Amino acid sequence: MNHGDVGRIWDENAAAWTRLTRMGCDVLRDYVNTPAFLEMLPEVAGLRGLDIGCGEGHNTRLVAGKGARMTAFDISRIFVQQAHAYERDLPLYISYLRASAVELPFAAEAFDFAMATMSLMDMPEHERVMGEVHRVLKPGGFLQFSISHPCFATPRWKWILDEEGNRIAMECGDYFQELHGEMEHWIFSNTPAELKDELPEFHIPRFTRTLSAWMNLLLDAGFAIERLDEPCASDEALARQPTLADSRVIAYTLIVRCRKA
Ligand SMILES: C[S@@+](CC[C@H](N)C(=O)[O-])C[C@H]1O[C@@H](n2cnc3c(N)ncnc32)[C@H](O)[C@@H]1O
Repeated sequence: MNHGDVGRIWDENAAAWTRLTRMGCDVLRDYVNTPAFLEMLPEVAGLRGLDIGCGEGHNTRLVAGKGARMTAFDISRIFVQQAHAYERDLPLYISYLRASAVELPFAAEAFDFAMATMSLMDMPEHERVMGEVHRVLKPGGFLQFSISHPCFATPRWKWILDEEGNRIAMECGDYFQELHGEMEHWIFSNTPAELKDELPEFHIPRFTRTLSAWMNLLLDAGFAIERLDEPCASDEALARQPTLADSRVIAYTLIVRCRKA
């Protein structure tokens, strides 16, 4: 599956994805991943930043709110239209465009930093993508990204439940088998029942690699790894969203910051 096919599939997901995320159904993003991502992000005020696979722009807006001058792109035309519409209504001076991470339409050394939230594992050709990100960063610039955790979002996985049906462990397998666009079908578990009937499930092509393959990808592209995080729900988040209890059983996501020498 190539990046054009991936873009067409995400165009089909975009309307429901935006509707549900703007309603607050992506509780893992809102209560765990994004707070941890922002906590780990260095000072960005006044810096030129690039958001890779920005979707409808939720996280781009949060980083722009920290004073960064953001450019953001996505391969899905629909997501970019939705991000533009938000920007027209509530301007944060973010420049959105449709592009693919495998061939970036920017000059070398154009950005002080790049970010990618939960997008890199959804795209093919990781070597080309990392080469492109490295090219458009200034020397000393950083890339910070989150991905589904390679050790738990394996090609084969299953929750282990206790007698009451609580998730207490995960069985993972086929770790060394790389996926190249095989599809996953799901919808946010917090989607209201009436919308679950109305909205189609998302179809998400997956591109997996092992933890060491991800790290070596960064090193081979010329990055030095600087900081890692595997966020889980805080006590406060858990009190507000009890469904996040399983985020304390396994690490759903891995956040990495690396820097161009
Ligand atoms: C799970 S969504 C994450 C969106 C957003 N970053 C967020 O955190 O809400 C993954 C995104 O990656 C985008 N994507 C996939 N392949 C891409 C590519 N080659 N170039 C740019 N974006 C891509 C998809 O269109 C989708 O918007």
